[in-house]
Amino acid sequence: MAVNFDQVIERERTGAVKYDAREAVFGTEEVIPLWVADMDFPAPEAVTQALVERARHPVYGYTLFRDSLYESVIDWFRERHGWSIERDWLMMVPGVVPSLHAAALAFAGEGEGIIIQPPVYPPFYSAIRKTGRRVVENPLQLRGGGYEMDLEHLERCAADGAKVLFLCSPHNPVGRVWRRDELEAVLGICRRHGLIVLADEIHADLVYPDRHSHTVLASLTEAHDNLITAVAPSKTFNVPGMGLSVLVASNPAHREALMAPFDRLHLLPCNPFSAAALEAGYRQGGPWLDQLLAYLTGNRDFVCDYLARHLPQLSVTQAEGTYLLWIDCRALGMSDVELKRFFVQQARVGLSPGASFGSGGSGFMRLNLGTSRAVLKQALDQLNEAVAHRLG
Ligand SMILES: Cc1ncc(COP(=O)(O)O)c(C=O)c1O
Repeated sequence: MAVNFDQVIERERTGAVKYDAREAVFGTEEVIPLWVADMDFPAPEAVTQALVERARHPVYGYTLFRDSLYESVIDWFRERHGWSIERDWLMMVPGVVPSLHAAALAFAGEGEGIIIQPPVYPPFYSAIRKTGRRVVENPLQLRGGGYEMDLEHLERCAADGAKVLFLCSPHNPVGRVWRRDELEAVLGICRRHGLIVLADEIHADLVYPDRHSHTVLASLTEAHDNLITAVAPSKTFNVPGMGLSVLVASNPAHREALMAPFDRLHLLPCNPFSAAALEAGYRQGGPWLDQLLAYLTGNRDFVCDYLARHLPQLSVTQAEGTYLLWIDCRALGMSDVELKRFFVQQARVGLSPGASFGSGGSGFMRLNLGTSRAVLKQALDQLNEAVAHRLG
C-alpha cells in the first residue's frame, strides 16, 4: 500500500515534545519545528493495527517478551543487515540513552575515561557526566566538506587508558555512515587496547539507499570482541515514544554487567504496547520503510538543491544517513547566540543549534527532514526571506 508522506498530520496538543515544548525551548510557538529527532509521519499501518488490537483486549497486565518478538528482531537484522544474532545475546531495555548510562556504569569506574566523537548527540556527553565518568573527546575532523574520524588520536585516547568508546553509527548530527574500512580501523584500535565499544546504531535503518549502505559493526567482529550494540525500532518506524530498545552483546559477562544498573532500579520495560509495536514493525514494516527512505531521499535532494540555488551561504556537509541534515551556517558570520535568535525570531524555524552538540558544533544548525515536503518548503522560504532581509 502506498503511504502518503505528503499528508500533513496535526500534532499540536497531543503532548508531542516537538510541537508542545516549542514555547519552553524557543520562547515562542510560532516556529516550524524541525528539531527533536522524531518524524511527522504516521507509523506503519501494521504497527497501528497491532496497537489497536492490543488496546481492544481490555486487560493491560504485566507483559513478557514472547519468543516471536525476539525472532522478529533476529530476522530483521539478518535479512536487512546480514547480521546473525543469537537469541541469548538480546536484552530488552527501556531506551538507547539509558543503555549509554548503563554502559558507563558497567564498564568504566568513577572518573575513568569514555571516548566520544563530537559534534555528537548531546546525551553522549550527559550519560558520561551524570554517571561520574570522564568525557574524552576524539573530535571528528571536517576535511573538504566531509567529516572523518581522527583514528590516530582515537588510538592515543585508548592508549591513555580510556575504557569505553561510545560510537554513533550512523552519526548524529553529521550524517556520516561509517565505511567498512573505518569501522575495521576502529575495531583494530579496540582490540589493541582492550577498549569496549558501545555502538549506538539506532539510525542503522535510516541510510539513503541511492548512495550508501550501513555496516553493522558487530557483523565485522569475532566472538571475543568487546562490543555491545544498541538498536531500536524507534527511529526506523517512528515509534520513539514507545520507549523500548534492544541491547545486543555476545559476551555473557558484558550482558550481566549491562543489566545490573537496570536490575538495581528494577527497570523492566514490560509494556504491552511497546512490545506489540516493536514486533509489528520488525515483522511487517519493511515495505513502509522502503517508501520512507525514498521520500526522505527526495527531501534531502529538495533541501540541498534549495540551499544551493537560493541560500549558498548555507551548506550541507554530508547527508549519508539519519534524517538529520547538518548545515554549516558559518558564512552568515553570526555568533551561536545570534544564529539561534536569527533562526527563531527572524526565520521562525526551530532547528537544533549546532553548539548543543559539543566541540565542533559552533556555527552549525541541525535540520530534521522527517516531515512533509510542503512543510520543508515553507521553512526554507521563511529562512530565505530572513537571510535576504538581513543581507539586503
Ligand atoms: C544517536 C541517538 N541515540 C539515541 C537516541 C534516543 O534513544 P532513546 O530514545 O531510545 O533513548 C537518539 C535520538 O535522537 C539518537 O539520535
